[in-house]
Amino acid sequence: MSEPHVSPDELLARHREVLPDWLALYYERPIELVRGRGTTVWDSEDNEYLDMFGGIVTTISGHAVEAIVDALRAQADQIAHTSTLYLIEPMVRLAERLVELAPTAKPAKAFFVGSGTEAVEAALLMATSARRSNQVIALRNSYHGRSFTAVSVTGNRSWGSTSLSPLNVSYALAPYCYRCPLKLSYPGCGVACADDVRNVIETTTSGDVAAMIAEPIQGVGGFITPPREYFAKVKAILDDYDIPLILDEVQTGFGRTGEAFWGSQAYDVTPDLITCAKGLGNGMSIGAVVGRRDMIDSITANSISTFGGNPLATTVALANLDYLEDEGLQGNAERVGKLLREGLDDLRDRHEIVGDVRGKGLMVGVELVVDAETKTPNPGAAAEVMEGCRRRGVLVGKGGMHGSVLRLAPPLTLTEDEARHAVQVLDEAITDAEEVGEPR
Ligand SMILES: Cc1ncc(COP(=O)(O)O)c(C=O)c1O
Repeated sequence: MSEPHVSPDELLARHREVLPDWLALYYERPIELVRGRGTTVWDSEDNEYLDMFGGIVTTISGHAVEAIVDALRAQADQIAHTSTLYLIEPMVRLAERLVELAPTAKPAKAFFVGSGTEAVEAALLMATSARRSNQVIALRNSYHGRSFTAVSVTGNRSWGSTSLSPLNVSYALAPYCYRCPLKLSYPGCGVACADDVRNVIETTTSGDVAAMIAEPIQGVGGFITPPREYFAKVKAILDDYDIPLILDEVQTGFGRTGEAFWGSQAYDVTPDLITCAKGLGNGMSIGAVVGRRDMIDSITANSISTFGGNPLATTVALANLDYLEDEGLQGNAERVGKLLREGLDDLRDRHEIVGDVRGKGLMVGVELVVDAETKTPNPGAAAEVMEGCRRRGVLVGKGGMHGSVLRLAPPLTLTEDEARHAVQVLDEAITDAEEVGEPR
């Protein structure tokens, strides 16, 4: 049994007093998760859940994994913090490993930070310094974090807290096949949305663009999965203008997509830089930029990171990478992801409000609509289904421009039985939401 905890209602009241209004909470009655084991978590009232969202696509190896916890404990027992002013052996080892694993141009280097936002921030600082330009191309419907520059390359109004950007950003069309901005259909479209990048360069920039940044699969945007040809086509256009490509692998890295270790590897493209975080630490705060040495070394002023690459975070990340490899979790993501996908495709065929199912491996989005014909987004149904799943002991996430996309991104240890159970619970919750009838 867990320690007695403060009730969620009391905690919520206290939370609202002292934390920002804009810090989004899930559920009509928000919950506090206090314990976890593998794919299971418990709240402060001892309700058990199958965790199909992994703390926003992060707990990639599962909760409280013994080998990872042991590594954390052993390092904490030695030294927790030193700063980058001193040599850090696990940081060097992790950099060597990431440089080897990364799909980027070589020779490569790595730089460590504390979060995905900070990784994006650092990558943009490097690209703009290398090119002496503040012009950046991003995609509509993207999400890259909540800092000043990360918000400015985020092409999603619901997360765009300011337009006072230090960057001059141009947004290209999102490769969003279900709602094609060009009203075309794949594959007949010839992936025409990629050509928009050339048009954006030629019409909205003065030519010397610092970089283009994009997610291999748009995460917060609702797991929007570009067609296979998309990034190779985009990269060829960027190469014509000598513009580097930054792929933001914060959600797609470390085997999440099953078919490859990095999301970008499915696209036959070599990015100049990648950013990563989330799954790298399995819950420990760590992020990284990996890629072209000349870009990373382009910052000429002194720089440090007090916490980036600290012994605790890098030791945990190394233990986590070992665990991912030893347990073959990428392969499991592919295998179980296929089964999950089949179950969800079946839900799409049977439920009018399930408009689209997309994604790869254990990163699957389910877009809810009012009906298949109008495709009107149905955020009310998404909220209802989330509540219905929670009542039945399954936690799922939500995203998309209108908050109408359910997001499934469990630990990559998910079993076939757990995947079947999640589909069954979703089936019941969707049926309930459909019975309520009206678009909400
Ligand atoms: C693609 C992408 N980039 C960057 C971020 C920001 O990461 P963090 O929340 O760790 O700052 C996120 C977070 O969801 C993300 O999905």
